[in-house]
Amino acid sequence: MIRGKRILLGICGSIAAYKAPHFVRLLKKEGAEVQCILTPDAHLFVTPTSLATVSQLPCLSEFTHSEDGTWNNHVALAEWADVFIIAPASANTLAKMATGRCDNLLLATYLSAKCPVFFAPAMDLDMYRHPTTLTNIQTLQSFGNTLLEPGTGFLASGLEGKGRMMEPEEMVEGLKSHFELAQSLNGKHWLVTAGPTYENIDPVRFIGNYSSGKMGFAIAEALAHSGATVTLVSGPTSLQIHHPNIQILRVTSALQMLEACLSVFPHVHGVVKAAAVADYRPETMATEKIKKSSEELTIQLVKNPDILAILGQQKTHQKIIGFALETNNELEHAKQKRLKKNADAIVLNSLNDEGAGFQTDTNRVHWVTENGCESWPLLPKEEVAKLIVQKIVSL
Ligand code: PMT
Repeated sequence: MIRGKRILLGICGSIAAYKAPHFVRLLKKEGAEVQCILTPDAHLFVTPTSLATVSQLPCLSEFTHSEDGTWNNHVALAEWADVFIIAPASANTLAKMATGRCDNLLLATYLSAKCPVFFAPAMDLDMYRHPTTLTNIQTLQSFGNTLLEPGTGFLASGLEGKGRMMEPEEMVEGLKSHFELAQSLNGKHWLVTAGPTYENIDPVRFIGNYSSGKMGFAIAEALAHSGATVTLVSGPTSLQIHHPNIQILRVTSALQMLEACLSVFPHVHGVVKAAAVADYRPETMATEKIKKSSEELTIQLVKNPDILAILGQQKTHQKIIGFALETNNELEHAKQKRLKKNADAIVLNSLNDEGAGFQTDTNRVHWVTENGCESWPLLPKEEVAKLIVQKIVSL
């Protein structure tokens, strides 16, 4: 999976940098091309000569070459790479990456990178668990960068705790799975729905809900990163898509969402319905703004079509993944929804779980199929999306 892949390795000033030459050797053995970039302080922990020797490419660190004034083109470096992995990633570099600082070659290359980015933090346990570091890590994950979780054990400080850089062997395995997953949905077309629906009461008011679209957008991006072509049908949200293989159809109401889904459903291999669709809509929409002339106002509601259930009835070859947002008796309701809507799997999230559900950057979900229920920890929505895609691949 790694043979012939171009790997940009960013190395920061952390004691774990001494493992970098070993990591490069492992990647080279797998047949990868490896280009190393050092931050200025990384030189204190590992020599450019060692890295150049094992990578068989000059090790870069400065914007320009002092001898002849030519420059190391960070844009070209970023374009060259299939992946950019920053290992070890120091607290300082994580902070700069999260805030767009650009005062060395590694950071300029990071800002230019359109390829998948991985980062492997390495630092003392107190630095790692400091709220600033944890917030920076979350910010990077929200950019779609992948955290290579540090291990727990003896640290260079003599203390014991979380902060050890992931072992090079594990990182190689992680990259292998990445490249495997990146091709796993080649040639497949998936439909994703995201966001809320707005059901108009009059020209200025609507019935809606708190969905931000984050979960659905993350799923669309993760599917596209796995090689799929994606049609994303989204209710009102300000979110933007980044991947060129995602076509977005923006809708407002449940009826419009149904129409958009039905237009592509026959042609897709599967659907993930992360949208929070209004179950009811006003029977009629007032053409003028309703005046507050009486003490009470009654709005007659009628049921919206259940889009997921309709797709479930119409499915021939498609895989169907629904969501369930519950507040009580969660698992039982999710199981019933899966059967009632003829879905292959239901992603259950509960409003009782802190950090889960509407608007948050994280979610805690349970994957419910005919085989039972698998619970995942609280994770950034981008990570939840990747796990869902892994499950889709195995379906
Ligand atoms: O958008 P975020 O802020 O990131 O929040 C994410 C989320 C909480 C919206 C998402 O994770 C989620 O749970 N989405 C489904 C919410 C929901 O409507 O759940 P439900 O249990 O009411 O619906 C079950 C399933 O039927 C869902 O797949 C829903 O899309 C679908 N449905 C529901 C009603 C309807 N009329 N048509 C449908 O297709």
